[in-house]
Amino acid sequence: PLVSLIGAPTDVGAGHRGARLGPEALRIAGLGEALVARGVDVVDRGNLDGPRNPWQKPVAGYRHLAEVVAWNRAVMDAVGAELRVGRLPILLGGDHCLGLGSITAVARYCRDTGKQLRVLWLDAHADFNTSQVTPSGNIHGMPVSCLCGIGPEELTRLGGDAPAMRPDEIRQIGIRSVDPGEKQLIQQHGLDVYDMRYIDEIGMRRVMEEALEGVDENTHLHVSFDVDFLDPSIAPGVGTTVPGGPNYREAQLVMEMIADSGRMGSLDIVELNPILDKRNRTAKLAVDLVESLFGKSTLMRD
Ligand code: ARG
Ligand code: MN
Ligand code: MN
Ligand code: MN
Repeated sequence: PLVSLIGAPTDVGAGHRGARLGPEALRIAGLGEALVARGVDVVDRGNLDGPRNPWQKPVAGYRHLAEVVAWNRAVMDAVGAELRVGRLPILLGGDHCLGLGSITAVARYCRDTGKQLRVLWLDAHADFNTSQVTPSGNIHGMPVSCLCGIGPEELTRLGGDAPAMRPDEIRQIGIRSVDPGEKQLIQQHGLDVYDMRYIDEIGMRRVMEEALEGVDENTHLHVSFDVDFLDPSIAPGVGTTVPGGPNYREAQLVMEMIADSGRMGSLDIVELNPILDKRNRTAKLAVDLVESLFGKSTLMRD
């Protein structure tokens, strides 16, 4: 595979500062080298530019809406450009508001090429808030609703007049923190959520089989990996930890089963906050998991 790394060093969508350092933390943890060692052709496109984090209070339910729009335009253009030249973009966040630009580009690419879109959203949070129900105003809690067309014009129309994605194109895995109003919206729009209770009851293997059901040769699989998906005991370097997440073994299985599908066409790694980490261990863990995403396994398998 041909891979392009795209850094988006911003935390304008978050409630903590520090995710802007995510791209460097991942590079220092050896992301590029690990992919090269797996035989991947890697080009590091460096970092995108965008407005600084003004660190203001929310206005009409949104913090930093204009800055979020600017960063997401840059991400959308950069991700789209890599897809069009046949490369697999890895977006190095940055906070999860950037999933909006990234997936908008992926969805447009799927429309243009007649591919089926499937998004796997690995996260502790559903990120399905709106300005009316958000407890924080932080837009990293809203990218999924915006992608589905629910939200401000500036964000829902990033890629044109139709919403980027339908709710039935996404599967959310690892969810364990949903705000009260957000819960109702999820129900209303019929999002497919594999929350921790479901994972505990049926096991990660079955969950992944269900989440990948219907993925075929014509599917573009986008993986949006919010590092707070992982249990905080193994991944403390994120701004919004929630206890009770997937452990190391469950997370590895998730990545291995995605790799086995052979259909991953784009990836986000977001919410890594090295300021809150211990000796960059969370970035190193993310790199370890990305190796599995790209097919690293203990034994020869077929
Ligand atoms: N649901 C909370 C909010 O809306 C937290 C969102 C956290 N999202 C994230 N991408 N880490 O503020
Ligand atoms: Mn998230
Ligand atoms: Mn999250
Ligand atoms: Mn468990």
